[in-house]
Amino acid sequence: MVTKRTSIVDIKKRKGGEPIVCLTAYTTPFAKILDEYSDILLVGDSLGMVLYGMESTLSVPLDMMINHGQAVVRGSKKSCVVVDMPFGSYQGSCQQAFESASQVIAKTGCQAVKLEGGVEMADTIRFLVERGIPVMGHVGLMPQMVNAYGGYSCKGKTKESRQKVMDDAIAVQNAGAFSVVIEGVVEQLAKDVTDELQIAVIGIGGSPACDGQILVSEDMAGLFTDFKPKFVKRYGNLAGELKNAAEKYNKEVKARKFPAKEHCF
Ligand code: KIV
Repeated sequence: MVTKRTSIVDIKKRKGGEPIVCLTAYTTPFAKILDEYSDILLVGDSLGMVLYGMESTLSVPLDMMINHGQAVVRGSKKSCVVVDMPFGSYQGSCQQAFESASQVIAKTGCQAVKLEGGVEMADTIRFLVERGIPVMGHVGLMPQMVNAYGGYSCKGKTKESRQKVMDDAIAVQNAGAFSVVIEGVVEQLAKDVTDELQIAVIGIGGSPACDGQILVSEDMAGLFTDFKPKFVKRYGNLAGELKNAAEKYNKEVKARKFPAKEHCF
């Protein structure tokens, strides 16, 4: 049976309906397992920190996103695959953004790209959308702005900050984005933005009222344990499982119990 991949048109229709389930995926084996349980698989630039141990997402190159995007598209059949545009690959100009995004789309076969930014990125989003590149926006806490913010703090605690996030979300929508991620904002603001916008609002550190939720899969499954942001819920303990398996393997190799007869030719 041929499985139909979720398109951005399908995602648009889900506004205000059954919550949209989104997870990150960076590799083929993860994509194969998560595909059944997600509407959107995001190849997030968080992979720089989660997979490569970088201090922030700022050092992630475009080629890395393309390689992991290809791996996730290969490993999935049903989810809409969205690939993050990394820092420095789109902020320079609309033309630069088009060149980077068109490479991502052409080389990975993903359905859309995601980029961070609100009012200041609206022209870029419009430029891409008008040229056939579906865009998911990302407002609120934007990790690529970590140096400008001086950290990763929650947004929307002041009237000005709430207004800025709302203006950003509206600008992203009006520029033609099919959906927007809202990250690390006070709950009421995430709800207000969801109520205000006609496009699907996906929360991370947002509100249960959002049109969908996203988590980094390694956080969700308890594999990434360096730190745990407040908005993360661990639904498993993969780090513990892996540690147990490695410990057993270590003991059996040392005791010459592995390989056993059935593993030898
Ligand atoms: O890079 C990423 O994984 C993200 C999600 C956490 C939304 O942007």
